Amino acid sequence: MLRIAPSLLAADPAHLGDAIAMAEAAGADWFHLDVMDGHFVPNITFGPATVRACREASQATMDVHLMVANPAAWVDPFADAGADILTIHAETDPHLHRTLQRIQARGIRTGLAVNPLTPLDVIHDALPLLDLVLIMSVNPGFGGQTWIEATSDRLAQVRTWRDSQRLSTLIEVDGGVNDTTARLAAAAGADVLVAGSAVFKGEGTLEARFRRLQDAATEGRGTPNPSR
Ligand code: DX5
Ligand code: ZN
Repeated sequence: MLRIAPSLLAADPAHLGDAIAMAEAAGADWFHLDVMDGHFVPNITFGPATVRACREASQATMDVHLMVANPAAWVDPFADAGADILTIHAETDPHLHRTLQRIQARGIRTGLAVNPLTPLDVIHDALPLLDLVLIMSVNPGFGGQTWIEATSDRLAQVRTWRDSQRLSTLIEVDGGVNDTTARLAAAAGADVLVAGSAVFKGEGTLEARFRRLQDAATEGRGTPNPSR
């Protein structure tokens, strides 16, 4: 199934509860929460307390993207805060297998993210352990950046591996998703499209922006990926 996951990074931080309610009214059933620590990425956002507050405001799936050094130290705090999915970055941890097992042991879904130039081999080998693969389509750290074109090929590669192994791992893409790139992402095989600015900023109502993204993704899914 194809889904848009609004990234709360682009919402007004003084009104997160309202942003969640408005996105849910538009049809969102996942929220993407970007945790940044000022070490792995050059920006700081929020921690477990904010994830807990979002969790308490909504029944939706809380998809937590950990952009932090030493993610193993943060598995328990974010699991306790109510994350449904915990995604760690391949670049941050020499013991990925162990950290993914820790996430599994907490009874929540595992995710592994890769930056735009990180070789995909790690995704290939980790796939059987993963509920979600996150292919970064920008360099992590900030919202509002431009989609990196090579992302389509990377999504298509992971999709081929996932399908040939008959796994149910979801393929997520994050960064620069708009009405144009949503189509490309879906055509290349993404299942979950994270969208911050395109949902919470821009012309018209949130509902109209959300629906446009969904329509673009649905159309893209019907289009064979030109790079395949
Ligand atoms: C970037 C974050 C993204 C960000 C996407 O480091 O991981 O989730 O919120 O924002 P947009 O959709 O504005 O590119
Ligand atoms: Zn993210």
